[in-house]
Amino acid sequence: MTAKHAIEVKGLVKTYEKLTAIDGISFDVNNKEVFSFLGPNGAGKTTTVEILECLRDPTAGEAYVLGYDVRKHDGQEAIKKKIGVLPQDFNALDWLTVFENIEYFRKIYGSRADSMYLLKLVGMDERANQRYKTLSGGMKQRLGIAISLVNDPEIIFLDEPTAGLDPQARRDTWELIRKLRDEGKTTFLTTHYMEEAQALSDTVMLIVEGKIVARGSPDQLIDEYGGKKSIVVRNASSGIDNHNLITLFDGMRAKAAQNGDVIIPFTDNSDLARVISILEKENAKMAEIELRSPNLEDVFLSLTGKRITSEGSVG
Ligand SMILES: Nc1ncnc2c1ncn2[C@@H]1O[C@H](COP(=O)(O)OP(=O)(O)OP(=O)(O)O)[C@@H](O)[C@H]1O
Ligand SMILES: [Mg+2]
Repeated sequence: MTAKHAIEVKGLVKTYEKLTAIDGISFDVNNKEVFSFLGPNGAGKTTTVEILECLRDPTAGEAYVLGYDVRKHDGQEAIKKKIGVLPQDFNALDWLTVFENIEYFRKIYGSRADSMYLLKLVGMDERANQRYKTLSGGMKQRLGIAISLVNDPEIIFLDEPTAGLDPQARRDTWELIRKLRDEGKTTFLTTHYMEEAQALSDTVMLIVEGKIVARGSPDQLIDEYGGKKSIVVRNASSGIDNHNLITLFDGMRAKAAQNGDVIIPFTDNSDLARVISILEKENAKMAEIELRSPNLEDVFLSLTGKRITSEGSVG
């Protein structure tokens, strides 16, 4: 069966007793794209993903994965053969080695995949004989991604694949996700990291409290909701402290950021020229000036009035 979209969701609802976790969402995922579901803790990301993986039943609405209906038994059988899954908080078998683990899952799937090839793909071949429980968080996630590939899936679901990883391990995982896209996989990613969604996604969908807030490419969302560019001035070794620095830009709607930077809305280059001339006049030649483009954080802030913290809560 060939479907126009890798995934189609219409009016999907999931309730848990009195709680509406998913509140009538509709969206499509294009073939071979990296699609990110971006939202804070409790937004409904895992619930949606697990409905698409046929692990939970929807309360109402429709969902099709590769054209197959998640509500039908036959559809579920077909879907499970064609998807790969890295669950949230993934764990393999602690006492087995990396190689034994991937072999274990390969056999469960009855797959004839070359386990060493998959370990190589995720950069884990040299650790094949290391016990799972001795791996770092980043390495465990990489093995999890290798395991999700044992059945050569068309779509892979990665539920918060970089949560809790250090910045280097996170970036290594990003590289791996880009590689999967180059291999022609459709990737459905969930994350609460704005930077991650911006760096990786062809399409981002913002979800808050079970409702879709916005959907588009990172550039489209930033253009539409991110607001203007801004000029950031920090005192560096200018000799003027930030408290005084802000008073220099009277009439330019300057604001002090939490870290002490001075933020001035940018409309055109004349604003920049004015900032430079003020700093020169004050002999603050060492002050740093940065022209900052809005990012997905600004989009989220302008749509919801809130920020997502690094732990994933809204604040
Ligand atoms: N099995 C369940 N029974 C009852 N409530 C549930 C169940 N699973 C999830 N919920 C609730 O549904 C809401 C959505 O949860 P879900 O796990 O889908 O969110 P999430 O976006 O994945 O959050 P996180 O970032 O914490 O993983 C939350 O309020 C959660 O407490
Ligand atoms: Mg979740």
